[in-house]
Amino acid sequence: MRFLALFLMASAGMAADLTGNWVVAQPLNDGTTRHTYFNLKQEGDKITGGIRTGQFFYHVAESKALPDGFAITGSMLDGDQERKAQYQVRLVGDELHILTWRRANQPPAESVAHRTAAGEGAMPAKIPVPALHKVPYNGLAKTPPMGWNSWNKFASRVDDAAVRGMADAMVSSGMKDAGYVYINIDDTWEGERDAGGNITSNKKFPDMKALADYVHGKGLKLGIYSSPGPNTCAGYEGSYGHEEQDARTWAAWGIDYLKYDWCGARNIYTDDEMQAVYQKMGDALRKAGRPIVYSLCQYGRAEVWKWGPEVSGNLWRTTYDIHDSWDSMMKIGFSQSGLAQYAAPGHWNDPDMLEIGNGGMKENEYRVHMSLWSMLAAPLIAGNDLRSMTQEIKDILMNREVIAVDQDGAGQQARRASPEGAQEVWVRELKGGAHAVALFNKAAEPAKMTLKWSAVGGTPKSVRDLWSHQDLTASGDGWTAGIPAHGAVMLRISGGE
Ligand code: GLA
Repeated sequence: MRFLALFLMASAGMAADLTGNWVVAQPLNDGTTRHTYFNLKQEGDKITGGIRTGQFFYHVAESKALPDGFAITGSMLDGDQERKAQYQVRLVGDELHILTWRRANQPPAESVAHRTAAGEGAMPAKIPVPALHKVPYNGLAKTPPMGWNSWNKFASRVDDAAVRGMADAMVSSGMKDAGYVYINIDDTWEGERDAGGNITSNKKFPDMKALADYVHGKGLKLGIYSSPGPNTCAGYEGSYGHEEQDARTWAAWGIDYLKYDWCGARNIYTDDEMQAVYQKMGDALRKAGRPIVYSLCQYGRAEVWKWGPEVSGNLWRTTYDIHDSWDSMMKIGFSQSGLAQYAAPGHWNDPDMLEIGNGGMKENEYRVHMSLWSMLAAPLIAGNDLRSMTQEIKDILMNREVIAVDQDGAGQQARRASPEGAQEVWVRELKGGAHAVALFNKAAEPAKMTLKWSAVGGTPKSVRDLWSHQDLTASGDGWTAGIPAHGAVMLRISGGE
């Protein structure tokens, strides 16, 4: 029987089935290699197994035989959401040819996989999460961090030269004097781990310690990025299982700020385990002994604002990623209502980095962006090319009167003081009893808006317009102004009776 079955399989060409572990090895310009694994099992017309690509790990949930191969659907859980990926695979000689659909309306990408050893590229086993405890506050970020981050403008194109250029420009443009201090490298700096498991930087960053020295030499601080998962969002090496080792490496390089991004961790942990996972790095940073601002990035899941301080987080993202558009900025910014009670010196809600100067919004829209973020006591992390800013963009990013509101020592985040709608008034209590008030017109038409003095404790002694840099006279029971479409007026009001 057995011989007969083997004979039949061979004669039908079925011995060459898809069963096996296959790898696509794609060399990147930064000297790293991107591996995608297809660990497949074929039983007749059915394919099962797993696919690991970048930060994602899918199991094969569906398969369908095609005339020359299979259509397979990968599925994974991301929190309580299912993510799917479609592939077509077929054998061509000793190769597995793969078609991948990344975006709708785009032709599929074709790649070629070769057989590799069983087990290679398998997702690592889950390391149990530690019991919860409070990680002591690190004493940093008494006011919302101010600086620059590479992602919004450069994404994977960031390199050593760009970072040095940004440090130079932060000083020469006046940004440093206005309070910006962190130069943060986002994803794609990572190289592979050495034989001792130490993380290295890739070719784009030949010497991180030298880069940190350079940035420090300018009186600035250097930030870096990683993930609690095996891979970062862009598919690079994450800190999974190397938390303490990486924290020590960063401390030795002279890193001052860590953005720790969930991404690849979703394949290993549930959202319920987030606090323990972030606590692990909080402990590791503390143990490494260098003051490092700890920035949690998990898109506001699991009510992070309630436990961020417990893991020694200095800031935590409250939303998914911002884009350089009015719609994206506005949706994120105005959705922050209700989180004010969680902001305090040392611990900030982070509605993501600034897009000011990246070109996708009009000047008045960028003024809304700056006003709203400052009202929200949000971190002011510029995301544009500091080497080539117009005067208008400089005036927005370096408006010291607006920055002073953001950095106000009381650390009170603004609250919406009007009904939610096309026109909104937000009020922020400042140190010493003054108020910052922003009148926002979200509509595509100009609008008249009125601020009643009763909203800020009575007729004030002084009213300052923080964009026109002029004092206004308070009279009557309020103040009415025409606010341009997609515009904002921001006032500092003190001495209400
Ligand atoms: C996620 C983060 C972004 C950025 C990218 C990098 O999307 O939310 O801010 O760090 O990853 O891959």
